[in-house]
Amino acid sequence: MKTIELHYENKVAIVTGAASGMGLLTSRELAMAGTKVIMCDVNAEALDREATAIAADAASAASGGEAVPCLCDVRNWDDAQKAAALATERFGRLDLLFSFAGGNEARCCNSHVPFHEQPKDVIDWGLDVNLRGPVYMARACLPTMVAQGSGVICLLGSVTGFEGDGNGSMYGTAKSGLFNFTKALAKDGATHGVRAFCVSPGPVLTRPGMAGMKTLIGRAADPSEVVDFALYLASEKGAFIVGTNHVIDGGRLCVSR
Ligand SMILES: NC(=O)c1ccc[n+]([C@@H]2O[C@H](COP(=O)([O-])OP(=O)(O)OC[C@H]3O[C@@H](n4cnc5c(N)ncnc54)[C@H](O)[C@@H]3O)[C@@H](O)[C@H]2O)c1
Repeated sequence: MKTIELHYENKVAIVTGAASGMGLLTSRELAMAGTKVIMCDVNAEALDREATAIAADAASAASGGEAVPCLCDVRNWDDAQKAAALATERFGRLDLLFSFAGGNEARCCNSHVPFHEQPKDVIDWGLDVNLRGPVYMARACLPTMVAQGSGVICLLGSVTGFEGDGNGSMYGTAKSGLFNFTKALAKDGATHGVRAFCVSPGPVLTRPGMAGMKTLIGRAADPSEVVDFALYLASEKGAFIVGTNHVIDGGRLCVSR
């Protein structure tokens, strides 16, 4: 049978939300496949620990990949610019942006109340991390990609972008905003060799709680199922995938509720 080669050797990537979950796994997969990865996160301790471990494994496997920690709050314009500059200063180019940083504000800010009781700082967190952040990161990375005439931007949506959420209302709102932003990015990048797409998972077992979210096939995804999918879409094999949102949800959106 034909083997699918994704060719991530000698690429330079920025991954946000890289200290945990799917951003962490993507960073590892990329570095082991030969990509130089700028790992961005706000969790300094986990970021340093994980980047050090990935860098050591990539070195002992002689993959040619690297992992560089970058303390970066995606809500902050200057931090986004700093991350993009680190890629070009250190490696001279920037091929890939994976925007994994995100989360439901009700969970992440421990504020499980309906929207009409949700405090401003929780609302701001939900909008800023899930929508403003990916916008700032894309804006920071695009000039280098446009100048190169090549680049790939992978946004992370969610089935919640279709379903909505009563407590974490900004999470679904922001994720559906990313569906539209994907198209805007695709239109901006198309004549410059830059493509964008969005991956929208159903429940993923980056934390045990996700096992409780119903799907048609009765289970949540292993993180590798989503990461492998995103890595295929972002590779040269995905060259015709432009401006589209790709649901990977075990049939979550088909479940009758
Ligand atoms: N896990 C799921 O079931 C699921 C389902 C659908 C969509 N998603 C989306 O996939 C993405 C990754 O999810 P996960 O479960 O792997 O994540 P996770 O919760 O394991 O990790 C998120 C990471 O983002 C970092 N982060 C938070 N705020 C940040 C900020 N302002 N700047 C930079 N980094 C920040 C956190 O420190 C953390 O390391 C998210 O965008 C999430 O919304 C996840």
